[in-house]
Amino acid sequence: MRSLYHKHNMTCGIATIALAASFLIASSCFFGVSASAAHSYYGKPYLTWQGDPGTTMTITYHTEAQPAAVQAVYDLVGASDELRHRAVGKSWQIPGLPDGRYINSVELTGLTPGQHYYFRIGDGNDFSDAYMFRTIPSADEPIRFAIGGDTLATFIFEALVEQAAAENPLFLVVGGDLSYADGDFEKIDRWDSWFERWHNSATTRDGCLIPLVMAIGNHETNRLEGSHEERAPFFFGFFPQSGKTYWAHQFGGNLGFIVLDTNHLVPHDEQVGFLQEKLKAYEALPFRAAVYHVPLYPSHRSFDGGGSVAGREHWLPLFDAYKLSVGFENHDHTFKRTKLLKNNEIHAAGTLYVGDGNAGVMPRVPNEDLWYMEKVSRDSHFWIVDVSATEMRLRAINRDGDIFDEAVLHAANENN
Ligand SMILES: [Fe+2]
Repeated sequence: MRSLYHKHNMTCGIATIALAASFLIASSCFFGVSASAAHSYYGKPYLTWQGDPGTTMTITYHTEAQPAAVQAVYDLVGASDELRHRAVGKSWQIPGLPDGRYINSVELTGLTPGQHYYFRIGDGNDFSDAYMFRTIPSADEPIRFAIGGDTLATFIFEALVEQAAAENPLFLVVGGDLSYADGDFEKIDRWDSWFERWHNSATTRDGCLIPLVMAIGNHETNRLEGSHEERAPFFFGFFPQSGKTYWAHQFGGNLGFIVLDTNHLVPHDEQVGFLQEKLKAYEALPFRAAVYHVPLYPSHRSFDGGGSVAGREHWLPLFDAYKLSVGFENHDHTFKRTKLLKNNEIHAAGTLYVGDGNAGVMPRVPNEDLWYMEKVSRDSHFWIVDVSATEMRLRAINRDGDIFDEAVLHAANENN
């Protein structure tokens, strides 16, 4: 294995990170199998979480042929010229996908929160160039993430990812309707475009790959009868997360984050027990957030739409009871920020709902004069969210990198 840097002991600091950034940008980041890759993104890693985002990281990459082995070598930035730790993963295929690609994935565990790591991926003999990521801090250290939805695989999406990446987020959440491939093998080209655009843009300014949190939307599923994996083959096949469409992670010391399924594979009512359990577990934290596809408070579609009604019937009582800080909503292809809402009324100690799934798709015209709405527009955007022990600050960034809206929430114990 090649050593990462040869001439000096690395120290974890800005100089090292800047060096790494230039190294990564200059790197073509391929190994062995990529020479015959069917797509330019084959062999390039992307990141998700199956476990605690402070201590684990799941690295996944696609190849045309099955590698002899799936391995990652890794180490703390600054720890050693050699990457001393090794993890072994596995390969799989999506049954029936005509291109027969292999999806290769390896989970790193036992990591230290709030640290930069280097890693290389390979087959045990031949390894890629080095990439870097940062684990989520464990305690009160502020965290920043980006979130939006309905990305499609357009130049708008790529521009927005580029602008979000310049903000150095620790992770990026897509709230469903990812590439619009509809779980349809004949639309795999949409995923090819999505990954190409993602890999073009999803390295932070300080040189880290941005982990993905991917929620499910209506465009992840096909109309087949069968298992969840058959109905949403790319969602499960490409993104190792929890193996479910709803799960939760605590990010740092201040944020509980819940991912939900607005009845694309699992009905709202079947997630009530899980939602209550997680909201209760996060009750003592300063902030609780949820992301899901179909909005409870839509900006374009009807307030009386089935998915919105079901969300308000089954989830809203829990959001209110446990003081959900913010609901990240999608599906309507607009920009929106609601008033603070509780018991389906405007309430100073209520929940903020933002969205509305406009991070790559063609924007729609929002409805005006909705009683629950503070602001709407057609602006494509991601939200950049900063969370500390006392404050959650949300800034909407457009594809030019301009911040065009902002909201600040205060910790629940100060809100009452
Ligand atoms: Fe949708």
